[in-house]
Amino acid sequence: MHLVAINPGFVAEASGIDISAPLTADQVAAIEAGMDRYAVLVFRDQPLTDEQQCAFSRNFGELEATLIAQMSNPADRRLKPVEMGDISNLDAAGRLRARDDNRRMYALGNRLWHSDASFRATGAGYSLLSARVVPSAGGNTEFADMRAAYDALNERTKTAIEDLITEHSIAFSRAELGFADYGVGNDDKIRPVRHRLVRTHPATGRKSLYLSAHIGGIVGWPVPEARAFIRDLTEHATQPQFTHAHRWRVNDLVMWDNRTTMHRARRYRDLQDVRDLRRTSIKGTGMTVEQIPAAA
Ligand code: OGA
Ligand code: MN
Repeated sequence: MHLVAINPGFVAEASGIDISAPLTADQVAAIEAGMDRYAVLVFRDQPLTDEQQCAFSRNFGELEATLIAQMSNPADRRLKPVEMGDISNLDAAGRLRARDDNRRMYALGNRLWHSDASFRATGAGYSLLSARVVPSAGGNTEFADMRAAYDALNERTKTAIEDLITEHSIAFSRAELGFADYGVGNDDKIRPVRHRLVRTHPATGRKSLYLSAHIGGIVGWPVPEARAFIRDLTEHATQPQFTHAHRWRVNDLVMWDNRTTMHRARRYRDLQDVRDLRRTSIKGTGMTVEQIPAAA
């Protein structure tokens, strides 16, 4: 496998590897080393079935069930395995979702800068997104480097935020867009979990900002003060010098580390144009802070 930097120290393109086939331990180690050195890897021209995507993803840990699969009726889902995140604008019958479709409105939350599954006590490790159909225009995914954003803070700010604990819930990111319709029986899925705002990567020892649209508070702070501060930090962390836009081609697989990056979807004509991307995510392996109260 060969890596060429597209965005120095942040995004690289990988070639010389077929990720649809079983990998050797050396290939897995090379990808992990690449993920530590950069934080986003792009694999071009990798047609994958859902099974191949799951098999490739399992090289990096246990797959996570998507929240939407846990909260919705299987009959409403186009992709049946609970580990396959349906990042498309299609319904269970393969038709474009209507403007007022509940799932479409929920999915619009991906347009806010976030880290996947930060609303879970362990967050997510890597996410892997495979492009099966791409729209004719728009629909980029943007990434922001939370290590570089941390490094660029002044020392006073670094000291002030070192021990802050944030509260994350899917309900906070969706509330930002005015969405609150989760269906009954899902209260446990929206209960906030706690994370350190500054986290240290287990392999590289680098510190990064653990920011996400799912944050709704800072422990011990009044809510408006916390949200205003998180907004300032997010604005800092998503300046152009810390970000990269990925323009999708069919059969791209993009892999990112949720512990050190944020990402967001960009607009496209989703009422006319099909965009079919499929995501797998690796479960996080450690909590960044004790959970008080314990939450799933
Ligand atoms: C995701 C996500 C962004 C996009 O798959 O987790 O946020 O561009 N996707 O669709
Ligand atoms: Mn996401």
